[in-house]
Amino acid sequence: MDYFTTTSAASRRASGCVIVGIYEDGKLTAAASDIDKASKGKIRRLFKQGDVDGKLGSAFVFSALDGVRAERVLIAGLGPKAKYGKSKFREVVGAAIKALKTRNATNIVSYLGQELADGMTPYYMARFTTEIIGDSLYDFSVMKSGKRKKPAALKRIGFGLNSRGEANAVMRGAEHGAGIVEGMTLTKDLGNLPPNVCTPSYLARQAQKLAREYSKLQTRVIGEAEMKRLGMHSLLSVTAGTAEPAKLVIMQYKNGGSAKPIVLVGKGITFDSGGISLKPGAGMDEMKFDMGGAASVFGAMVATAELKLPINLTVVIPTCENMPSGTATRPGDIVKSMSGQTIEILNTDAEGRLILCDALTYSRRFKPEVIIDVATLTGACVIALGHHHTAVMSYHDDLANNLTSAGANSGDKSWRLPLTEEYTKQLKSNFADLANIGGRDGGSITAGCFLGKFTEGMNWAHLDIAGTAWHSGPRKGSTGRPVPMLTEFILDKAGALPR
Ligand code: BES
Ligand code: MN
Ligand code: ZN
Repeated sequence: MDYFTTTSAASRRASGCVIVGIYEDGKLTAAASDIDKASKGKIRRLFKQGDVDGKLGSAFVFSALDGVRAERVLIAGLGPKAKYGKSKFREVVGAAIKALKTRNATNIVSYLGQELADGMTPYYMARFTTEIIGDSLYDFSVMKSGKRKKPAALKRIGFGLNSRGEANAVMRGAEHGAGIVEGMTLTKDLGNLPPNVCTPSYLARQAQKLAREYSKLQTRVIGEAEMKRLGMHSLLSVTAGTAEPAKLVIMQYKNGGSAKPIVLVGKGITFDSGGISLKPGAGMDEMKFDMGGAASVFGAMVATAELKLPINLTVVIPTCENMPSGTATRPGDIVKSMSGQTIEILNTDAEGRLILCDALTYSRRFKPEVIIDVATLTGACVIALGHHHTAVMSYHDDLANNLTSAGANSGDKSWRLPLTEEYTKQLKSNFADLANIGGRDGGSITAGCFLGKFTEGMNWAHLDIAGTAWHSGPRKGSTGRPVPMLTEFILDKAGALPR
């Protein structure tokens, strides 16, 4: 995809389609008004006739308007002016792109970014536009035989500016958006691939492939024999029931001199059957998405490497299957984690924390400036926050606030949950240092507290993405989230966001 900026008036711009906005009460944006004048009042007439409305998310396409150079004009409804803002902007762009999807425009120019309401900047306008277009053009049909869907015709995206002075920020936004799209595409592909293809070994090969593609990126893969030597018996207890070998995948991107790295740890359960504490059958296929945390840290790594950010980023991915068998871990088994703490496994379906705790302990060797784990960790998180917010947990207020504001800036909503002592007490075991479950109450928080037992002294946060990593139902598939939030956090740390 190519990006460009233009200060030409909407009516004078040659293009496959120019996109302009209209408010619910019929008030035209500057670009719409320009088109209206050039076409001798056509837009106002269409509005009066009821052929166009300004409701949020409407999109009307007209071709060959007199006096307008573009082949098509898309009139996008912005809703009421008083309510127009950042999240509405995203909806409007999404609706516009959806309306253009079936048409063959090879290049479009959006003038929507000229209306910068409520906290929007030219940078975010361009970034969101790029991200939303990338999201909407995503297609996963590699596993389908027969007729291939034809690739999208769209090749060039233009941004109509209010002034030349916005051009740098807009081009930077488009560039960052494109990097994020690249990351999200990989995240979605890894999530959508079936569990018989996307195995721990597949993830390891993927990481090795990235190391060949990006010169500043190194990959190391640790197998089960070395895990044993390292004392990762908690991780190994999860993989005990499967024939598929477990891996610990480490990717190190070094472009920040001697600075301590940001470390991202992603849960990589490529299929979660629950193990001996077997899950019910309905919807079990969706547990192929239980590597969504791993997929999202892959995505953040790709975005970072793609944008050549001046920073050190390390990604650690513990990955295995959770399967029942004669060699599987039993409820009641006690294992010793790499940290030395013993864990009574009361439910083999609470496996994510068992692989993450050893990965977190392992990560100490990188002396992280900050360490963030990302995991589809608990069903309780979906009960608490539904599918709209990622849960943020941390003992460190600054880090929690940085993450929630990175989420707010990037369109990945998140909400903090408390990690107070009472919850940690729920993890008491009669027989070991701690149990791997803390009962039904506050299930996401007790999972967070469990991880907190392994991160003492580190600047750590935990993201539970159980509700945000994939869609169920007719739109079943990976969302590519929270790659934008992670990348925003990294961009900020790298000083790459315009101020
Ligand atoms: N991968 C699941 C969490 C999950 C469930 C994510 C549903 C998305 C949708 C996790 O490994 C799990 O099974 N957690 C258990 C924990 C319980 C046994 C304490 C759960 O949430 O039921
Ligand atoms: Mn589970
Ligand atoms: Zn799981």
